[in-house]
Amino acid sequence: MKKASLSGKSPQTTSRTVVDDIPEALRDAPTEASVTPSAAKGGMAWAMGSLMALSGVGILALGGVLWFVWQSERAFLTRSNAQSSARSEATAETRDNRTSEAISGDDLLGHLPYDEAPPQDLEPILADGSLKLRQAAAEAYLKMEADARADGVRLVPISAFRSIEDQQYLFFEVKAERGQVATERAEVSAPPGYSEHHTGYAIDIGDWDVPATHLAPDFENTKAFEWLQKNAAHYSFELSFPKNNSQNIAYEPWHWRFVGDRDSLETFYKARQQSDEEMRR
Ligand code: DAL
Ligand code: ZN
Repeated sequence: MKKASLSGKSPQTTSRTVVDDIPEALRDAPTEASVTPSAAKGGMAWAMGSLMALSGVGILALGGVLWFVWQSERAFLTRSNAQSSARSEATAETRDNRTSEAISGDDLLGHLPYDEAPPQDLEPILADGSLKLRQAAAEAYLKMEADARADGVRLVPISAFRSIEDQQYLFFEVKAERGQVATERAEVSAPPGYSEHHTGYAIDIGDWDVPATHLAPDFENTKAFEWLQKNAAHYSFELSFPKNNSQNIAYEPWHWRFVGDRDSLETFYKARQQSDEEMRR
């Protein structure tokens, strides 16, 4: 603790510590030269009394100063503790945000996990058997294709069920060939284990008459897309990745999913619900 200034004067009593902390007005006691011999005895008594009085005042003053210092330090510590807990809360909040970002699937670039369809549930939608969907989705798609044809629109299936191994190639090999970073690749292709195509309920559809628009955003300007927009819901197909979708996946007007039975509906909406719940945790 810093001692009080003496304004350049010497201490006036024997107790330096007490004097140093006494307020300046109380420090101007008489000097030895100003006291006469005849008054020495009385002066001595007076001096003793004064000394005791000064000591008392000094103790009180010291107490006051100590109380003031204690209060100041307490206020400082309270303020420091408050700042430190605010810092801890901010750190915890940052950590929580990082955790929820990781859980929310941002690390998997917006894609949700899906199981592969059992092979025995898959049915061909092309005569050569190269493209397959789950039975209910295959039947609905073939009916939709036939009805579109009757309306003068030729839908063409481009991709349907894909195994995790197929997706491994589409994601990593193509990414390497094109020199893409993972986030860039994920805008148009799900990482293996995270594609709706694994389920056997998703299909990429093109317009037979405009192959240049296959798997391209321009597909939205085709007659096929116009027809699908008007009619696909009657066959229980919906667009998985519309513009500004909540998964932040690039707009894919060609990618449709079947949600026409309990299993397909649960597959897609439970995945979405689980992801949302994890985000809230
Ligand atoms: N193109 C979609 C996102 C997929 O690869 O599943
Ligand atoms: Zn697709």
